[in-house]
Amino acid sequence: MKKINKIKWGIIGLGNIANQFANDLMLLEDAELTAVASRDLAKANDFAQKFNCTKAYDSYEALFADEEVEIIYIATPHNSHTTLSIKALENGKHALCEKPMALSYSDAIQMIEASKKNNRFFMEAFWTRFNPSVKEVLQQVRNGVIGDIKYINADFAFRGSETENQRLFDKNLGGGALFDIGVYPLFLSYILLGKPNEIVAKAIMHKNDIDLQTSMILQYESAQSILHASIVSNSDMKAVIAGSKGRIELNSPWFVADGYSLFINEEKEAVISLPVLGKGYSHEIIECHNCIRNNQIESKYWSHQNSLDLSGIVEEIKNQIKLSF
Ligand SMILES: NC(=O)c1ccc[n+]([C@@H]2O[C@H](COP(=O)([O-])OP(=O)(O)OC[C@H]3O[C@@H](n4cnc5c(N)ncnc54)[C@H](OP(=O)(O)O)[C@@H]3O)[C@@H](O)[C@H]2O)c1
Repeated sequence: MKKINKIKWGIIGLGNIANQFANDLMLLEDAELTAVASRDLAKANDFAQKFNCTKAYDSYEALFADEEVEIIYIATPHNSHTTLSIKALENGKHALCEKPMALSYSDAIQMIEASKKNNRFFMEAFWTRFNPSVKEVLQQVRNGVIGDIKYINADFAFRGSETENQRLFDKNLGGGALFDIGVYPLFLSYILLGKPNEIVAKAIMHKNDIDLQTSMILQYESAQSILHASIVSNSDMKAVIAGSKGRIELNSPWFVADGYSLFINEEKEAVISLPVLGKGYSHEIIECHNCIRNNQIESKYWSHQNSLDLSGIVEEIKNQIKLSF
């Protein structure tokens, strides 16, 4: 039997998403969770035990120094992404950093430069880019199935609470709707239509100076995207892409869609089911493995330039709504 050469992962910041990600990592037979690190050793030990990982550290530095680890998944709050990604890359590790990769465009540039300088793979963990429905819809649009895109409507909204979702309401951690979830509808508009000619954004701010909800219009030469993000109300989280010949509706919640519907001239043409692997994170992990095995420092599906472009769009909105981090 052929021996599988497993890619050895480390995870830092053992919170909500780290747990979900580790579950999906377990589904891949060519992945190994080699080490985990928390600021709290007891938490690291519990996490390691839960996921059959042999090494648990009480500092992120210790994991950076672990020679066995090949790639580090950075699952910490937004404000720490830049420093920790650069440290990982400078320690010779590949890095997958949670979205949004940075709180400013200039920080994002530094991260990409660190990847190039150290010749190590780096990707912003934009898992939705690897969602099977999103991938197929992008191909359908590129093939002209719905004609020219005229209108995109997408949102990401849920009712958060200051006690249960402290990170989201904490300005020091880069909280607020735009940076946490607004990046998703912006991502959809960007992958389908590219960088807009003009952006108009309005927000309702919290007393802590983070945005509770933000609505955005992205203006293109012959299309518009109307996008919304909120941490104070629920929405049905559907995404609609309307073109000159037909439209596509991604199943809710669209950022982890398990299928989509295609309408041509208002007739329902097809209902396509495309299940995700695990919770949906395995797809981006497979891409990391492929890139590392092919000695690529970036993915062609979610490239360094893609992340920089999105970061630039977010920065423009951040300035318009006067978010000051
Ligand atoms: N892709 C997705 O679907 C998805 C979903 C949710 C979140 N995210 C992203 O993942 C990142 C983490 O989000 P999360 O929801 O997992 O957050 P979380 O539950 O608060 O976990 C974040 C972890 O970061 C570590 N950390 C380091 N410095 C910290 C600080 N100053 N304050 C608080 N925690 C600190 C902590 O781990 P230790 O105590 O172990 O050091 C904490 O458990 C964010 O970038 C978020 O946008 C992505």
